[in-house]
Amino acid sequence: AFMKEMMGLTVLEEQLKDTLHVGKAIVVPGNSDNENWVKLEMGKACVSFLKSTIMKNQTVAVTGGTTMAAVAHAMVPFTASNQCLFVPARGGIGEKVENQANTIAAEMARKANGDYRLLYVPDPLSETSYQTMLNEPAINEILQLIRGSDVVLHGIGDALTMAKRRKTANEIIRQLVAKDAVSEAFGYYFNKAGDVVHKVRTIGIQLEDLHEAKSVIAVAGGRSKALAITSYFQQGKSDLFITDEAAAEQILRGR
Ligand code: BG6
Repeated sequence: AFMKEMMGLTVLEEQLKDTLHVGKAIVVPGNSDNENWVKLEMGKACVSFLKSTIMKNQTVAVTGGTTMAAVAHAMVPFTASNQCLFVPARGGIGEKVENQANTIAAEMARKANGDYRLLYVPDPLSETSYQTMLNEPAINEILQLIRGSDVVLHGIGDALTMAKRRKTANEIIRQLVAKDAVSEAFGYYFNKAGDVVHKVRTIGIQLEDLHEAKSVIAVAGGRSKALAITSYFQQGKSDLFITDEAAAEQILRGR
């Protein structure tokens, strides 16, 4: 805490909390665009928060992404963690296996000595298969667990970076550009005003479910994500936002 005070990070945290309307903000030093250890520091901050807040028998839903992978990397067992259930927040949305929510949920559970349930749905999903899948009892059962999660852990990305990384069809990319998509989180794409302009059709958490969760934690850093983060929080709600110094400074500059 003393070091943070000295580095001015506490001031950034207070300013971010007011600017983004989040319950609490945690800022770690550095810029995760350039250095990977910074992502790991965000991951550690997230794990220490979970340690102090998670209660037994809670369900934790996680998204994919390299930042969430860093949270999984930093995961350790803690009181109650062996009685927690880790689930992916949404079905596959085009990520590489190491960045998929399923992989990350399983890894978190392994390190926390907790339990996990996975969701295997192909993507992209056509409207008809989507409806059929929803009626599969095995899928529906896990879907209920996911949508009723106590804790939601998610990343925030830059819209076009995410769309390209997911090998999104050119036609959709053109639509995202036309609709000025700026940010992305759990398969939803948002414009500068925070309105949803596109949504990947898959099973799992819906934006509305965030209001039901006891605790929503967003983790995203790097100067390159500043606009995306600002866009997401126009409508997005978080009890805790964990970021790095470079993103924090850039967000506050753009106020
Ligand atoms: C995705 C999440 O998998 O990762 C998104 O579903 C998030 O919520 C994205 O925007 C961020 O990825 P990264 O690699 O920048 O942490």
